[in-house]
Amino acid sequence: MRNIVILTGAGISAESGIETFRAETGLWAQHNVDDVATPEGFVRDPKLVVDFYNGRRTQAASALPNAAHKALAKLEAENNGSVLVVTQNVDDLHERGGSNNVIHMHGALNSALCAACEHRWPAPMQMQVADTCPSCNAPAARPDIVWFGEIPYQMDRIIDALGEADIFVSIGTSGNVYPAAGFVAEAARAGAETLELNLESSAIGSQFDKSVFGPATQTVPAWVDDILAKK
Ligand code: OAD
Repeated sequence: MRNIVILTGAGISAESGIETFRAETGLWAQHNVDDVATPEGFVRDPKLVVDFYNGRRTQAASALPNAAHKALAKLEAENNGSVLVVTQNVDDLHERGGSNNVIHMHGALNSALCAACEHRWPAPMQMQVADTCPSCNAPAARPDIVWFGEIPYQMDRIIDALGEADIFVSIGTSGNVYPAAGFVAEAARAGAETLELNLESSAIGSQFDKSVFGPATQTVPAWVDDILAKK
């Protein structure tokens, strides 16, 4: 039995055609984070924010899961022990690739959230600022995205899983955003082996026992085959 916790970031979806954040031409080069990814930005200009996520929702809907997403689903199906994917991504490519045990710690594009009563419902492809909550009727719909300054979702479950992990793997994340960037230290403290799969060394690359550099569609299937062979 070995319990595996996998943290994923934008790099795993890059080869599906979804832009990353911190690449030279990435999302944060095209948009001001404070304007589109903070509660204050949403208060200042809700239409700008809703339109930003409408664009990302449309892009994600036309993307397909790639070999890395599918390999993680195969790992979940065949590993002797638990496999939990904790993703910072707001697309649904892990689920469409076949993974069932997925935590979206930064929220999900396909979900809408009522800022008044916290009810959630499936987001329409194009949300409108005036959308009302189907439960309490308040005109308080917002994208179900964790913005900077807000607390990521399901942290208790994530911390428990890291405490029981035998293997922790970080895939396609730059290691710039906490608390996710602190998971490697947490897993190592609990005795897990730690591995980074990324195009290049991340900001926290030196904290991993081992690193493999290359595109996720190559490194992830190779790692999954390797680990399943050691079953
Ligand atoms: P980043 O854009 O910061 O980092 C993406 C990482 O993926 C980089 O280290 C790239 O080198 C790597 N990468 C790119 N293409 C790859 C490929 N084909 N295969 C493997 N790796 C590749 O994205 P995240 O780390 O996910 O939060 O960003 C973390 C959070 O910051 C996001 O969830 C978002 C953002 O601001 C919020 O919006 C709250």
